[in-house]
Amino acid sequence: MTAGKVDFTGVQSTMLVTLFLRALDAKEREPILGDRFAAEAVDRIEYDWTNLDKPIITRTRFTVTLRARQFDDWTTDFLHRNPDATVLQLACGLDSRAFRLDLPAGVHWFDVDMPDVMELRRKLYHETDDYRMIAASVTDETWLGEIPADKPVLIIVEGLLMYLRETEVRQLLRRLTDHFRTGELIFDGVAPWAAKTTQLLKKYLSRWYDYPAYWTATRDGSDIERWNSRLRYRDDVALMAQYERVPDPNKRRFYRAGSRFDWFKNFLRAFRADF
Ligand SMILES: C[S@@+](CC[C@H](N)C(=O)[O-])C[C@H]1O[C@@H](n2cnc3c(N)ncnc32)[C@H](O)[C@@H]1O
Repeated sequence: MTAGKVDFTGVQSTMLVTLFLRALDAKEREPILGDRFAAEAVDRIEYDWTNLDKPIITRTRFTVTLRARQFDDWTTDFLHRNPDATVLQLACGLDSRAFRLDLPAGVHWFDVDMPDVMELRRKLYHETDDYRMIAASVTDETWLGEIPADKPVLIIVEGLLMYLRETEVRQLLRRLTDHFRTGELIFDGVAPWAAKTTQLLKKYLSRWYDYPAYWTATRDGSDIERWNSRLRYRDDVALMAQYERVPDPNKRRFYRAGSRFDWFKNFLRAFRADF
């Protein structure tokens, strides 16, 4: 069954890119992530994928899969320590983490994204007693009330915070730490130079299309504690420096060489904090 034709603009369109790149990885002999759900979703969605099959986009696929792999590893680690937890994944797009990981039986998982993305997601995936999808903007005030707050929570925010303004990031984190008693937050943050570059690009490109710029950069772990005093920075991983996981030897060499430079290595980092 096909999931129908799609047409997204702005930040919502970026989830087609990450889906497509995970699908490419899944077709590799030695995938980094091996997300078969992504490959199946790409086959089912009526979209001209040749729009994305361009070197400027496919070149970034290791960044996306290394990030997803790191988030999978941290999720598994958290659920090993808290098998009876709630997982709240914001800006899930068409990500299949809830299905590709082997979850302990006591876990309740909530995926949240914008209503138009959720409409498509519901054609690809189904809810169960332990898995729910919520159609809302994370900046809305009401949806959080639907999520039980009685268990430790893992909050996964992959590919979102950089697209929000810093005031929105602070408000969101405040609502989350007010709602849940204890838990962990994992998110990815871009370097300040990357945010500035995309803002300049947006100025130039906005005549043609709704280019999604990065508004909030993460310099280091102290930013997290500055955004929200209940959060304690725990650790971070420079995703470009995870080159040992890249199967293609030429690309691996490129990432290894690039990682000698801090600006390259720290372009995108995964951060972990607890509260
Ligand atoms: C780069 S994609 C990441 C999707 C997914 N996490 C992944 O890795 O494939 C960004 C996602 O953020 C979602 N998003 C952007 N602004 C949002 C908001 N205010 N509330 C909920 N989701 C939002 C978009 O719809 C899109 O699915």
